[in-house]
Amino acid sequence: MKALVLTLLFLLMAPSEPKIFSRCELASILKQHSLDTYITLDMWICISYYASKYNTQAVNKQKNYRSRYYGIFQIRSDWWCRDNHEGLDNLCGKPCSAFTDDDITDDIACAKIIMANHAPLYKWWPWVENCGGPNMSNWSSGCKL
Ligand SMILES: *[C@@H]1O[C@H](CO)[C@@H](O)[C@H](O)[C@H]1NC(C)=O
Ligand SMILES: *[C@@H]1O[C@H](CO)[C@@H](O)[C@H](O)[C@H]1NC(C)=O
Repeated sequence: MKALVLTLLFLLMAPSEPKIFSRCELASILKQHSLDTYITLDMWICISYYASKYNTQAVNKQKNYRSRYYGIFQIRSDWWCRDNHEGLDNLCGKPCSAFTDDDITDDIACAKIIMANHAPLYKWWPWVENCGGPNMSNWSSGCKL
């Protein structure tokens, strides 16, 4: 009985396993949500790979910089979401923690806001540099879309 209680406690307290998408699984969800209207689907998959390795729980901080990066697209806290650090705005209207769960619907909605309102600003993402090749079609190759 004691062991059972301890096991249950452990299960309740253990942090949830991060959801790590496969490349094609992500491609299919992004496609369903039409995240191929601003930049190509291939570029989004590539950006997600370099941003988070498709890990929905990724949180990173840039050296000497207050802002943090959240979730599969590494959305920045200074403008786009609210965390407990100083931020300039919260243009996606969400706590940053919303971008680290398994459901990436809100991440995609925020990515669209970033693209729609501040189109050039996605270029902030340092990882975009890796995704500017002339032929990016290998990022969705083999995926049933
Ligand atoms: C792009 O690269 C893929 C392989 O990754 C190749 O199959 C395809 O023909 C290339 N497309 C162009 C337009 O070069
Ligand atoms: C696509 O090609 C680029 C350039 O060769 C490479 O860096 C990248 O890892 C490839 N992506 C995949 C999913 O294989």
